[in-house]
Amino acid sequence: MELCEIRILWCVARLEVTTQEVAPGELGGKRGRTRARVGGVLVVDHRTLARRIVDEAMGEPQLEHAFTGRRAIGGLGERVPRTKPHTYKVACGMATRVVSFGRIDPAPDRLICGDASAAAGGMVDGALDAIYIDPPFGTGAVQRGRGHAYVDRRDDPDAFVEWLAPILAHSRRVLAPHGSLFVHLDYRAVHYVKVALDRLFGRARFVNEIAWCYAVGGKSRRGFGRKHDTILWYAKTDDWAFFPDAVRVPRRGGSHMRLVGGVQEKTDRRTGRVYRYPVAAGKVPEDWWTDIETLNHSDGERTGWPSQKPERLVERVLQAVTAPGGRVADWFAGSGTTAAVAQRLGRRFVASDREPAAVDVAARRLIAQGRALASAGNPPVPLEIIRGRI
Ligand SMILES: C[S@@+](CC[C@H](N)C(=O)[O-])C[C@H]1O[C@@H](n2cnc3c(N)ncnc32)[C@H](O)[C@@H]1O
Repeated sequence: MELCEIRILWCVARLEVTTQEVAPGELGGKRGRTRARVGGVLVVDHRTLARRIVDEAMGEPQLEHAFTGRRAIGGLGERVPRTKPHTYKVACGMATRVVSFGRIDPAPDRLICGDASAAAGGMVDGALDAIYIDPPFGTGAVQRGRGHAYVDRRDDPDAFVEWLAPILAHSRRVLAPHGSLFVHLDYRAVHYVKVALDRLFGRARFVNEIAWCYAVGGKSRRGFGRKHDTILWYAKTDDWAFFPDAVRVPRRGGSHMRLVGGVQEKTDRRTGRVYRYPVAAGKVPEDWWTDIETLNHSDGERTGWPSQKPERLVERVLQAVTAPGGRVADWFAGSGTTAAVAQRLGRRFVASDREPAAVDVAARRLIAQGRALASAGNPPVPLEIIRGRI
């Protein structure tokens, strides 16, 4: 990895900003060049660049060099010193790497270090069976994990939807006719995004609003504790794939039904018809999921990446709508949960994240799992790790 250092020699003490976090921006070009494009705005010197970096920390922190157009991904969570000159490090010119697990296949899985819109925009129409995305929730804060962090977008739902809309439109375009999109959100933006998705897919293509309920999280003295996220499920056409038998869960005891020799029974009072449900066969879950907990601190699955989702959650989503060999994507891969589940379940994947550190975490996870699968006699297809321009 080649590191390109851009020295910002002007003092940034004058900047009256509330945050001192440097955005994880993209910054590219030759050492010594002074002009850059920041969040779509041309900045002419490093002082302005420094200001833009700070200003953009809660917004759209993408940087692109004005002359070369070369892109590279910056480090994250670096602090702009208030009073002294500092060095802003950005990574550039990183190579693509293919990791083989002993199975020859011309179409590798892909892990891309890049922006979601570029990754989604680069896919051909109709290529995917399912997309699960877990974008930043627009908390307006820096999300911190163990040793890792990323800058979330500001808490402005309209701006959030405006930013996400092109990514959602590409997602719809690249889905196969039987394909589905799952968008994981919380209370902040879900209703705004639901309206945007209704408009994009049509209300008739809305399949489910899944409430993923968990126990951990804040309590409230002024209302009910916010203990669920929402996953919106939209289908590309009326003919969407669904594999209910792949996601059956155990039937719970203590229901209103009679239990007769391992079979739950209920009688319809109006028609007198008797319904029987063998306990051993389980049941297809409803649209509220209470049986999958968030990852705790000592969980073996934990990578340290903030807002990492449990594999069981993504596993249920992927198994519900894809068959083995199916093709899935996640444009906000983070620690690579969707990719890891896809690799383990024998699905093909494309996963992207703009943070080089996230891609490092995901790559380590996928390589370790790929090797374990290979030694168990079930090698996955090669993994292509793409850094830099896509
Ligand atoms: C909520 S986290 C995803 C966590 C992931 N589901 C997991 O289990 O680890 C959101 C991710 O989106 C990434 N991200 C934010 N803006 C992005 C963008 N414009 N393009 C690509 N990735 C982005 C962040 O770096 C972060 O890793």
